[in-house]
Amino acid sequence: MERMKRTVTCGELGIASIGSKVILNGWVHRSRDHGGIQFINLRDRYGITQVVVDEHASDQLKAKAELLRFEYCIAVEGTVRARPDSMINTDMPTGKIEVSAERIEILSTCEVLPFMIDEASDAREDIRLKYRFLDLRTPWMQKKVALRHNVTRAVREFFSDQDFYEIETPTLIRSTPEGARDMLVPARINPGKFYALPQSPQLFKQILMVSGLDKYFQIARCYRDEDARGDRQLEFTQIDLEMSFISRDDILDVIEGMTCQVFEKTMGCVLPRPFKRFSYREAMETYGTDKPDVRFELRLSDLTETAGKSGFRAFSSVVEAGGSVKALRVPKCAHYSRKMVEDLEGAAKIYGAKGLAWMKVTGEGLDGGVAKFFTDLKDEIISTLEAGPEDLILMVADEWTTACTALGAVRNKLGTDLGLIDDKEFTFCWVIDFPLFEWNKEEEKWDPMHHMFSMPQERFIETMEENPGEVIGDLYDFVCNGYELGSGSIRIHIPDIQKKIFRIIGFSEEEAMRRFGFLLNSFKYGAPPHGGIALGLDRLVMIMAGEKTIREVIPFPKNTAGVSPMEDSPSTVEDEQLRELHLKLDLPEEG
Ligand code: AMO
Ligand code: AMP
Repeated sequence: MERMKRTVTCGELGIASIGSKVILNGWVHRSRDHGGIQFINLRDRYGITQVVVDEHASDQLKAKAELLRFEYCIAVEGTVRARPDSMINTDMPTGKIEVSAERIEILSTCEVLPFMIDEASDAREDIRLKYRFLDLRTPWMQKKVALRHNVTRAVREFFSDQDFYEIETPTLIRSTPEGARDMLVPARINPGKFYALPQSPQLFKQILMVSGLDKYFQIARCYRDEDARGDRQLEFTQIDLEMSFISRDDILDVIEGMTCQVFEKTMGCVLPRPFKRFSYREAMETYGTDKPDVRFELRLSDLTETAGKSGFRAFSSVVEAGGSVKALRVPKCAHYSRKMVEDLEGAAKIYGAKGLAWMKVTGEGLDGGVAKFFTDLKDEIISTLEAGPEDLILMVADEWTTACTALGAVRNKLGTDLGLIDDKEFTFCWVIDFPLFEWNKEEEKWDPMHHMFSMPQERFIETMEENPGEVIGDLYDFVCNGYELGSGSIRIHIPDIQKKIFRIIGFSEEEAMRRFGFLLNSFKYGAPPHGGIALGLDRLVMIMAGEKTIREVIPFPKNTAGVSPMEDSPSTVEDEQLRELHLKLDLPEEG
């Protein structure tokens, strides 16, 4: 018998189809017997349609219907009819009709399910990942797959309309220095040699600029051997972009335009422009992070000068040593218990704070906690913080970065705890003017803040070797709701400036030539001024979908141990495969 091929999907029938004969293909979402009448909810990607096997149906059809279990894949032939008024389901797009079955074919059966298809979110993540083929059947996972597709499509349309070329760059390459560990691939026909999987297309996109392809983008797969966390995966996808003959603001404009178009096309959401911009210093000083969540107010203040005059040794000694005292006024939270403050202190300590000092503002002045040390300075503190009665004041004294980030973590926790964050809101901002270098305490050397191909701002170029810590680069981060969504820079295209950077970060020219001489070499042949950025596509879709981990928007992600429970990768390989690659394993003793 010829297979019953579908004539319609399970999402498209309505009152206009009443009377027509149709064939549906799909999965048994629910099947229930109501006193001799069998109701089957048939589901596919497009929706759910109710199929009915009536009381007066043939015995053969009834027997077939009784065999049906959850997730059997079936074909149904029948006639569309209006549901009785009492059975109309206004929650379902197909809720006004049903299909009276005349023929049912079981296309394939299904074993007992590890979890219900519409309750998958209750299942443990590892079970969901092991049975990802079932998890992806759930309507909300399918919604996220669709969102991701729509985002990618809108990105492609936007860039194509703006004259960008989408260009693929290789994924078997020489290792690119992006800061993470490389994933390596042994090269069988070149024994002892390895390809690296790209951490990003960085060097290739810069070379494309040298080639005169002055507007490039790519939806690029990237690989980094780092610990997989909530917003990190071993393999992920970037919306990658590079442009020539542009300034920083051109890049920011393009990304703003793209983001607005993507939100409008995929969610019908109009984002207010322009996006706010903060210098790195301002973001750290005000929000205690270089990825500020600006959906809520609560700003940090600086109390270094005032605290330096206090009798509180824990603070004045920090100030004498050149550190900072940062303070956060939490309006109307003087009722906070010691336990609640201790919870906040826990958040601060994760970021290296030695403690979290607190005091309360009363009608008379300051009270509780460390207030006794600040009696003479109360007016100064109250006016600096613009504080009022019933406010809680929280303070951290430490090196500037630690004081800012620790109190920034407290700010973020308060944002959640006090319900200051609107989950439905998307607030974007830029953080610009980052330092070009950061001091690596362990190795006592300067590291590039972003990567070593980023341009110092013009005014620092001559003198940057004298005081690397002061140099500000043309670097920018794109931030949404407290997540770093993207990162980029104007690049160095002049070999002499690149050499200076190598000297500062203690990278020998021989090493540079060995690792990416191909890029430096290309710069000798008329390299144009250029710059770019890359956005994490997974993070963007995660935020749009209102999820907390990128695993929720990646069809086949790895778990936090870097394992895919479905196909059980990574796995061992045959000895023969190792021999072909001239590899011998030298594994640590188990124990
Ligand atoms: P960067 O390393 O900052 O810059 O990466 C850019 C963006 O990619 C996303 N991202 C990740 N997403 C998921 N899992 C990961 N492990 C992961 N790592 C990064 C983030 C991040 O903001 N070549 C430069 C860009 C440039 O200068 O043009 C780069 O890759 O959203
Ligand atoms: P102590 O005088 O050490 O008992 O500290 C008094 C309070 O100040 C405690 O609540 C500590 O958590 C807090 N504290 C101590 N050192 C610091 C610091 N560097 N920054 C913020 N709070 C601190």
